[in-house]
Amino acid sequence: MVGPSRRLGRTVNVADVMALGRRRLPRLVAEFIDGGAEDEATVAANRRAFADWDFAPRALVGVARRSLGVTVLGEPLALPVVLSPTGLARLAHREGEAAAARAAGQAGTAFTLSTGSSCSIEEVASAAAGPLWFQLYLWRDRALVEQLLDRAAAAGYRALVLTVDVPVMGRRERDVRNGMTIPPRFTPATALDVLRRPAWLAGLVRGPSITFANLVGVPGRGRGAAELGRYTNEELVNPGADWETLAWVRHRWSGPLAVKGILRPDDARRAVDAGADGIVVSNHGGRQLDGALPALRALPAVVDAVGGRADVILDGGVRRGADVAKALALGAKAVSIGRPYLMGLAAAGEPGVAAVLRMLRDELDSTLALLGCPSPSGLDRDLLVPAG
Ligand SMILES: Cc1cc2nc3c(=O)[nH]c(=O)nc-3n(C[C@H](O)[C@H](O)[C@H](O)COP(=O)(O)O)c2cc1C
Repeated sequence: MVGPSRRLGRTVNVADVMALGRRRLPRLVAEFIDGGAEDEATVAANRRAFADWDFAPRALVGVARRSLGVTVLGEPLALPVVLSPTGLARLAHREGEAAAARAAGQAGTAFTLSTGSSCSIEEVASAAAGPLWFQLYLWRDRALVEQLLDRAAAAGYRALVLTVDVPVMGRRERDVRNGMTIPPRFTPATALDVLRRPAWLAGLVRGPSITFANLVGVPGRGRGAAELGRYTNEELVNPGADWETLAWVRHRWSGPLAVKGILRPDDARRAVDAGADGIVVSNHGGRQLDGALPALRALPAVVDAVGGRADVILDGGVRRGADVAKALALGAKAVSIGRPYLMGLAAAGEPGVAAVLRMLRDELDSTLALLGCPSPSGLDRDLLVPAG
């Protein structure tokens, strides 16, 4: 069997690592990660939006000394790329979120743990070396939210990322076709597909069972994955959440708070007025409202609306260091990535995530040099022109 480093040795960029990860996963898991809502128009648009801008580099600047460091939500980071919250990362690799958090810490950046993670708040805190942020869904059950917030604060998570773009679940048709529903509906074809990926299956069997780890042991929630899943489906989705709910969360969490899933300047302004320290411009990687505008296109107006009162993070479709540079030139403090690190996990576990972060860092470093811009703080809109 080829080890992780030999496997990764054949990869040159994030797309290569993602392709490798995809090949190692059963189709239903690969499609759960890759997929988006309905026609997946927004998934594609997130990527395409980066091609709407060309660079206009500055010559003869003197870029012998360069740095990639930024401070986001009060956190000094070695590079302006953080890891987005993604549920059930153990589906990609048996070490799940713990491995991703270790890789993020090694790279000097932050890992955001999803409410729906498959490693618990405490497990990830003891595995990680770097800064941790906790992502919260606006659950119906406020007592449960309070418990989660207290656990995250006690375990040392520094910032809270409140996701606001899931008033109902997006309709992900690949998951319906593959039976990746709650509860799962597996067919003989799915079983065969899983059996064709023995390395993944062996990891699954060796690892702990995959469930929403933060809810295990919470009184009245049971233990079984299907039971927890049903509970999560009913409770996690809270169509009644509104600006008052955000005010309550702000009141309840004393650390830095970012609101994730904002695409409109008026919403961004209102969130900052309500005490948000950060805005994550995001359409959930195209997994919620299909036809929503691409995150990068939404970015400049949000940056202008916020006017420096909060840090803006761009999330969705980032696959290249040049993408990071474009987002920062349009006013983001950092970007956040989801599928690339999940596929990195699938490709090779922690070293796969490390490879993704290293590739983005190296590409960003050379992009900055070629742009005539020695550090992220020098990136501005003057370096971009609309693509012809
Ligand atoms: C498999 C998967 C699970 C996700 N789970 C969550 C989640 O639990 N909470 C959340 O706020 N966003 C979740 N997201 C969205 C990501 O945080 C992020 O917005 C998105 O992946 C960014 O787009 P990208 O994958 O193109 O980088 C998930 C995304 C994926 C692919």
